[in-house]
Amino acid sequence: MLDNPVMIASGTFGYGIEYSELIDIQKLGAIVCKGTTLMPRKGNSQPRLVETESGLLNSVGLENIGVDAVVKDKAPVWANWRVPVIVNIAGETIGEYISVAAKLGDTPGVSGIELNISCPNISTGGIEFGVTPKLAAEATAAVKAATNLPVIVKLSPNVTDIREIAVAVEGAGVDAIALINTLKGMAIDIKKGKPRLGNTTGGLSGPAIKPVALYMVYEVAKVVHIPVIGCGGVRCAEDALEFIMAGASAVQVGTANLANPHVALDVLEGIKHFMRDRGIRKLTDLIGIARA
Ligand code: FUM
Repeated sequence: MLDNPVMIASGTFGYGIEYSELIDIQKLGAIVCKGTTLMPRKGNSQPRLVETESGLLNSVGLENIGVDAVVKDKAPVWANWRVPVIVNIAGETIGEYISVAAKLGDTPGVSGIELNISCPNISTGGIEFGVTPKLAAEATAAVKAATNLPVIVKLSPNVTDIREIAVAVEGAGVDAIALINTLKGMAIDIKKGKPRLGNTTGGLSGPAIKPVALYMVYEVAKVVHIPVIGCGGVRCAEDALEFIMAGASAVQVGTANLANPHVALDVLEGIKHFMRDRGIRKLTDLIGIARA
């Protein structure tokens, strides 16, 4: 249970430590840290970021310091924070996911796990586990069995019917569902006649994907009975309120953090203001009200 519904999306806030010098991170609902794997990863070749007209393409490739360094160097800092930190975990095999989850299990400072079965930027694993209900359920059940921490599954929009995947992970015992991760995309440099990203393709995030994310949250919230967390292009309180009215119990602010470190706190203040203005006392009075 979070103090408030505004979370930080993985991969847009590092481990929260640098941002703690810029904003009062303790006021956030939760922080989801960078995707963490069993071994450190160097990530994909540069360039890894391309700005498009209304969104950001990334092909970072899960560069990260590895779970042992997270446990040793980052979690002790988090243990002194009031804001819960959730570790986004990724892997190439189910065995890797299990090992990462098990290593995080008893670590002070780690409040939960976000199971990333939706990263489009690695050649093995990652999104492969998020595109069929069977594999998504297997990965979820394996991680749930490896930890006592609450587990959120982060779903990919790059699927035929996200509702089937959501129902499958709910059946496998997950505690909440976050959606959406990035939409697969690309950009081409016409002067060079080559893809602009070093890895050719990447994941699109930011305002361009908000209508897609909103639609998917709306559909998923109708078919599951666990909390849904909306993610995709949230830049202001109005965006967050749209997700909440579509059925989300919380939102994650992602790409917008890269331009404005204060944006998530502004979103939170805006939600409070909206509720105060209308005499709405509980967020639950807003969740899903736009649903038919
Ligand atoms: O490439 C990346 O590190 C992205 C991760 C993700 O979208 O989950």
